[in-house]
Amino acid sequence: MKNIAIFASGTGSNAQKIIDHFRNSAIARVSMILCNKPGAGVFQIAEKEGIPSVLIEKESFFHTDNYITILKEAGIDLIVLAGFLWKVPANLVQAFPDTIINIHPALLPKYGGKGMYGHFVHEAVITARETESGITIHYVNEKYDDGATILQERCIITPDDTPLTLAGKIQLLEHKWYPLIVERLLTK
Ligand code: GAR
Repeated sequence: MKNIAIFASGTGSNAQKIIDHFRNSAIARVSMILCNKPGAGVFQIAEKEGIPSVLIEKESFFHTDNYITILKEAGIDLIVLAGFLWKVPANLVQAFPDTIINIHPALLPKYGGKGMYGHFVHEAVITARETESGITIHYVNEKYDDGATILQERCIITPDDTPLTLAGKIQLLEHKWYPLIVERLLTK
């Protein structure tokens, strides 16, 4: 049985989909949820699901190996960022080579980088009158939204789309594809 750790900062809808996907799986389980935002929705999900959760503290995250120790002791096989908005520090990237993945709500390298998250991405895409957007699932390296692409999936933008309706299209793609890619990586 493989162990998944999910890092999140917010609502945790992708975390929920991954938990649901592996609920009765013989392949893997979500065994830890880590979040940097006290009171974030993902903590309620962790509690409801009986999954141990960890509040990430800034000083410790960026200046110690504490979280590396926690993740190694839990035997984590894959670290899944699902709406986690802090940059992953170099020591953590190096301790888990090719083991950390992220989902981004646009077709990278467009609309990526610091400050490009959630609704900011969709607003920028609509303002630029793009005719398509999508999701990118990629490995995490020491730069924001920069590691090797694992999967991109596209959706059409129609003239009547708003940032909100686009967010809905993107969320459908994320919820469909992220659990499948997590499973694919754990079984390859
Ligand atoms: C997702 O749309 C994810 O792609 C985005 O945050 C949302 C989290 O939603 N991540 C980024 O923008 C990273 N740059 P969730 O908390 O409901 O899973």
